[in-house]
Amino acid sequence: MISDSARPRRLRNLKWARDMFRETRVVTDNFVYPLFVVPGKKYKKEISSMPGCFHLSVDEAAVEAAKCRDLGISSLILFGLPSKKDPLGKEAYDPKGPVPEAVRLIKKSVPDLAVMTDVCLCEYTSHGHCGVIRKTRAGEMLVDNDCTLELLVKEALVHAEAGADLVAPSDMMDNRVGAIRKALDGKGFQDVGILSYAAKYSSAFYGPFREAAQSAPQFGDRKTYQMDPANYLEALREVELDVMQGADIVMVKPALAYLDILRAIKEKFQFPTAAYNVSGEYSMVKVAAQKGLINEKAMVLEILTSIKRAGADMIITYHAKEAAKWLKE
Ligand code: PBG
Repeated sequence: MISDSARPRRLRNLKWARDMFRETRVVTDNFVYPLFVVPGKKYKKEISSMPGCFHLSVDEAAVEAAKCRDLGISSLILFGLPSKKDPLGKEAYDPKGPVPEAVRLIKKSVPDLAVMTDVCLCEYTSHGHCGVIRKTRAGEMLVDNDCTLELLVKEALVHAEAGADLVAPSDMMDNRVGAIRKALDGKGFQDVGILSYAAKYSSAFYGPFREAAQSAPQFGDRKTYQMDPANYLEALREVELDVMQGADIVMVKPALAYLDILRAIKEKFQFPTAAYNVSGEYSMVKVAAQKGLINEKAMVLEILTSIKRAGADMIITYHAKEAAKWLKE
């Protein structure tokens, strides 16, 4: 071999070559923008734990949806807050709740936007857990997997009836993808897809979201249903189960501390793969930017590129609107 010490950087020295040989390009088509929908009208209030994100009434959510479309964002995911929480999270499956109402209005006013909905009970339950609580014989309070499934199925059907394109179960109950798929098919919703939070870790990075959704568990934690951050093989097993049960897209959450999991899942399953760039990841950047410690634009684009490079086709991110603007510059 001829030794050529300049070879590693010859192409890097040239702007056109850097552009030509760049391996990963993050584009606005990859983004899903989350909205937090609340009861009421003409309500828009910044969420203190997530600068730049808002609680929006249904009418305001539709205004925001139109802005997203104008920025070239093609899809939204809706989270809802109820007017009142109760142990069974009843407003989660109320057809007149903020999420189904917002789906209907957005589908009518901005029909070219894809609308996904979060399917979970934690925003709606008074105890803040993602399911129905049962006391075991030993006197322990646990989430009852199978009772919860019935309610999640109801919630998914209400969202599908409202016009959701994809439902996104985020609860981590066993067998919920299969149960939801069967119920959707049974009601003629074969075209409604399932974005499964397949590998969702029990993570400190959800902190700011729990303030936004007022969904911090009132007792215990989510370790009995969300995954241990130490586990890798378990993530592969979880994804396999969801793929077998009919998930259309599998998601890893959070993103940044779990890029190895994302890459492994993409390689092993070669399936449409999503990553959730969660609230803690977002707010760390926002707060550092507010303090002038970082270059926000450069950092956000680096983060999003890294998530895509690791294997995500779809990135749920609170940065979507700003990133879409930056990508146009
Ligand atoms: C649960 C849910 C959570 C998030 C999305 N769906 C919170 C949790 O599991 O506690 C977190 C999203 C984020 O942190 O941005 N329905």
